[in-house]
Amino acid sequence: MAKARKVVITGGGGFIGSHTAIELVAAGYQPVVVDNFGASDRRIIGRAQELAGARFSVHEVDCRDRTALSGVFATEGDCFGVIHFAAHKSVAASAPDALGYYDNNVGSLTTLLGVMADVGLTKLVFSSSATVYGEADDLPVTELSPTKPAESVYGRTKQVCELIIADTAASKLPLEAVTLRYFNPVGAHPSGRIGELPIGVPANLVPFITQTAIGLRPELTVFGGDYATVDGTCTRDYIHVVDLAKAHVASLNWLARQTRQRFNEVFNVGTGKATSVLQAIQAFEQASGQKLRYRVGPRRTGDVVESYANVDKARAELGWNAELGILDAMRDAWQWQVALRDNPL
Ligand code: UD1
Repeated sequence: MAKARKVVITGGGGFIGSHTAIELVAAGYQPVVVDNFGASDRRIIGRAQELAGARFSVHEVDCRDRTALSGVFATEGDCFGVIHFAAHKSVAASAPDALGYYDNNVGSLTTLLGVMADVGLTKLVFSSSATVYGEADDLPVTELSPTKPAESVYGRTKQVCELIIADTAASKLPLEAVTLRYFNPVGAHPSGRIGELPIGVPANLVPFITQTAIGLRPELTVFGGDYATVDGTCTRDYIHVVDLAKAHVASLNWLARQTRQRFNEVFNVGTGKATSVLQAIQAFEQASGQKLRYRVGPRRTGDVVESYANVDKARAELGWNAELGILDAMRDAWQWQVALRDNPL
């Protein structure tokens, strides 16, 4: 009998989840979307299905609801693995809602791991963040760089989740896990049909740039111009969401090749290139043909100064490499912003 190729993607309606669903189909997997639609939009899944040229089964389920989550696996039958995206992700919202963040981000994971154990499913790809490294001592950041106390409650939930996965993989439960530490996910699908849907005022740079350029925000404030960097502004490793989606497919393929059991393998997912805020603005202007209104303002509390990935491990082990750059990301993010204006969801 052919091996089941169904892959459950929790948070499959979200920014990274929806792009991953499309790449899964292209690679011969069958996405099964689980989402509570608390921060995502069902219509994005409709569009992702159009782009993928396939129907996904969609379950409106909160991952903390063990009965409902068990029901998904009972309904779907044999599955290959799970990609766990479902989580709250706002740094700013996490401090006032600390318990809500721990409950959602940690509770979803522990419930999921319990249900996976119940049904004998061992393969997991977990959505983590470069935020676990904090301000790294050495650049670029490798998977062996120490994790530092996170600057936010959100960051701490990711650190706790990573510990839970590592401890579970070392326990009596069989777990074969890949933890992907994303650097800064940006861009949108090149079709302009799906992309990021920030709730309220975006905290992240690229959606703030595109919303400013389209006239939804008066101007961008560059958070700090006096850092000891190439031009005084912070640097980041901006990874196109389509490349990031492909890293999940590569992780599943890699899991399929493993013969050992009970492990958690961590991979950085970035481009390996550092881009400053001013360079990002320049890239946006070049890619979009728009002039951006911005001014340099004070530093943002909690910002790391420089962050970019060493991606040798992902390249060597997963056979994955970022193919797109900051100009592609800015072009696609802008196209998505324009499409949202001209043809709202
Ligand atoms: C932020 C989170 C990080 C999280 C990630 C998820 C913080 C401190 N960190 O990362 O934990 O994993 O989002 O996507 O919030 N910038 C401006 N003006 C703006 C917005 C951003 O200058 O209006 C600058 C920032 O100072 C930073 C860069 O742009 O240098 C990127 O910022 P952002 O998109 O918020 O990502 P991170 O801070 O790297």
